[in-house]
Amino acid sequence: MAVPVILDCDPGHDDAFAIWLAAGDPNLNLLGITTVGGNGQLAQTTRNAQVVCTVAGIRDVPIAAGADSPLTRTLQTAGDIHGASALDGPVPPEPDVDLDPRGAVQLLHDLLTDSPQPVVVIATGPLTNIALLLRIHPQVRTKIKEIAWMGGSTGRGNVTPYAEFNCWVDPEAAAVVVAAGLRFSMVGLNVTHLALVTPEVLDQLAAVGNATSAFAVELLKFFRASYQEAEGMAAPPLHDPVAVALVAVPEIVTTVHTRLDIELHGPETVGATSVDLHNKLGRPANAHVAVDLDADRFWKTVEDAIRRMR
Ligand code: BDR
Ligand code: CA
Repeated sequence: MAVPVILDCDPGHDDAFAIWLAAGDPNLNLLGITTVGGNGQLAQTTRNAQVVCTVAGIRDVPIAAGADSPLTRTLQTAGDIHGASALDGPVPPEPDVDLDPRGAVQLLHDLLTDSPQPVVVIATGPLTNIALLLRIHPQVRTKIKEIAWMGGSTGRGNVTPYAEFNCWVDPEAAAVVVAAGLRFSMVGLNVTHLALVTPEVLDQLAAVGNATSAFAVELLKFFRASYQEAEGMAAPPLHDPVAVALVAVPEIVTTVHTRLDIELHGPETVGATSVDLHNKLGRPANAHVAVDLDADRFWKTVEDAIRRMR
């Protein structure tokens, strides 16, 4: 039976692929999409989620807007990677899917409460909405099977030397979610940097030959140019769908059960994820942290999902 999932995201080029994978993979049942300020302002990430669903013909999945800023900090966006709209590249269609008026936290609450089975919450942006959900509606905890997050890193960061973007934007939210005691999986840069959009990957996606793949290829061309400019990488890492793949086909991502702490105060390291892979601190394990990826199978899974779109 397909795993019920809710995707909390901040589209974003790689979030778009997370949406298509969550909607198109037969192992998943996408119940809803919630948006958060992150790669762009909330109004942008929300409209981008509508655009991404419109392109792919995803019409039966509610979309609700959530937090426009982190729990305590000022929102920092990622225009250097995702452009002024947070989804630059292809000309976006006018969205033909409405927003759910309930808002993200209420939609998450309602979908979790109404689901007969526990749900996996996949998060591919700052964890602000999820922290708010757990604070406002702690009773829904029993309906959350797992929180699978693209964020953090077992090594270096991508915004500061040690902090990854999603964690750095709202480290307090990440700390709240990690401390909640739910099953928590972290898919960080150490593994998403194995999901590289090589020329071969781009050719295979183009060969799918539907409207979604055409849009996807234009997104990736922009994303590739951004990464070339910002990071000097010729093949950009497509972070967010790796967290979806972990839930859809768990064998694709190797994880270890270990200790994860979020750095909130270090002047040089705020937003870093301290992953105690060698149990130096002797603290109990609290997270399933990704350490390896079957990249070939990952890309095949993404390609198959996009083939199921229009
Ligand atoms: C993460 O930051 C965002 O720019 C991407 O969408 C991804 O979620 C990678 O650090
Ligand atoms: Ca994202």
